[in-house]
Amino acid sequence: MLKLGVCRPEYFFASPPDRPWLYVYYRLSRSRVSFRLLHYSGREAESTTFFERLMRHIRLSNGVCRTTFERRFRNLDTVVNGILSQHFSARDYLLIEDWAASACLTSCQWAESLLDIFPQMRFVASDLVLSVLEIENRDSKEVFIAEEDGTPLQYVRPPFVIRLTPPEPWPLLINRFWYSWAKFRWQNVRRIWTRAEALLYQDENGIQQKDCEGYRIRKLSVVHPRALALARSDGRFAIRRHSVFDRANAPCHVIRTMNILNRAYFNEQQIAQAARSIVASLIPGGIWILGRTVSDDPPVHNVSIFQRRRSGELELIEQIGEGSEVASIALSATEPTILAS
Ligand SMILES: C[S@@+](CC[C@H](N)C(=O)[O-])C[C@H]1O[C@@H](n2cnc3c(N)ncnc32)[C@H](O)[C@@H]1O
Repeated sequence: MLKLGVCRPEYFFASPPDRPWLYVYYRLSRSRVSFRLLHYSGREAESTTFFERLMRHIRLSNGVCRTTFERRFRNLDTVVNGILSQHFSARDYLLIEDWAASACLTSCQWAESLLDIFPQMRFVASDLVLSVLEIENRDSKEVFIAEEDGTPLQYVRPPFVIRLTPPEPWPLLINRFWYSWAKFRWQNVRRIWTRAEALLYQDENGIQQKDCEGYRIRKLSVVHPRALALARSDGRFAIRRHSVFDRANAPCHVIRTMNILNRAYFNEQQIAQAARSIVASLIPGGIWILGRTVSDDPPVHNVSIFQRRRSGELELIEQIGEGSEVASIALSATEPTILAS
């Protein structure tokens, strides 16, 4: 009939509470966690566990999850770093990119291990979504959370957190009522969107908050605090917004795409299109690591490692586990006849 929502950090329980009324509240609210809690995950140390717990509840409009935790790729990084050491020297000025890096924690940990081997490298972690926007009506205190392109994700009106994408299901009648109300109200908020977004991104002082036509707009980062800290402290590590369908800004020596190019997210044409943008982004001799994690505990990854030939063709140079399930799509999308057409 109804679901409430978690709107304050003290009610974001890691495990079911003992007190009966809190337990009832926990049961009614645990599947609707407000993105506003991201405000509390920005500070280092103890906030990293809070952030990782929160990420398990963050689902974007395309259905992709952002689950992340420490050392997920520990066994993969060791093998990959060994292969990269065979192809590049410690003196090389490498550009290594990790695409669709989600919260960038695995990128940060991979970069830290690579910096010992290739101290002159530059590393870019990228994802399509690095932040979401919170839009608060300053009078009514209603809050919308939306993706940067304006797709609404949540309507927060304590004690409710209403899901907007995907919609609240009909059997939750009260939630469905608030969903319809929120969609109606969203039409008004959507009007100021282009202007509000431009204001936020044009600010050169790094201010992440703006007031616009009675609304307060804030940018909430969905990047892991450890990755943000590394980007602040080491100029060799950067985080930027980028789509796997676009070419890199500069020719890369290595590109990794883990847990993004698979049939659960994209069709064959889209995977082939991404493969072509990756090949076009690699220098001749550059390396592409393509794979999917099939088990987190113990960690098991099926990965194919390719090298780009001068012609633009890919050569499979290594396989980990069973190899990538889309390796054949990548290989056929980058055959010289296809690339030339
Ligand atoms: C399942 S996560 C994988 C994260 C990371 N590579 C890993 O293996 O842990 C998929 C990520 O792809 C991002 N994503 C979805 N579509 C994308 C696109 N077209 N370009 C870049 N990133 C995209 C999502 O935002 C999400 O963070």
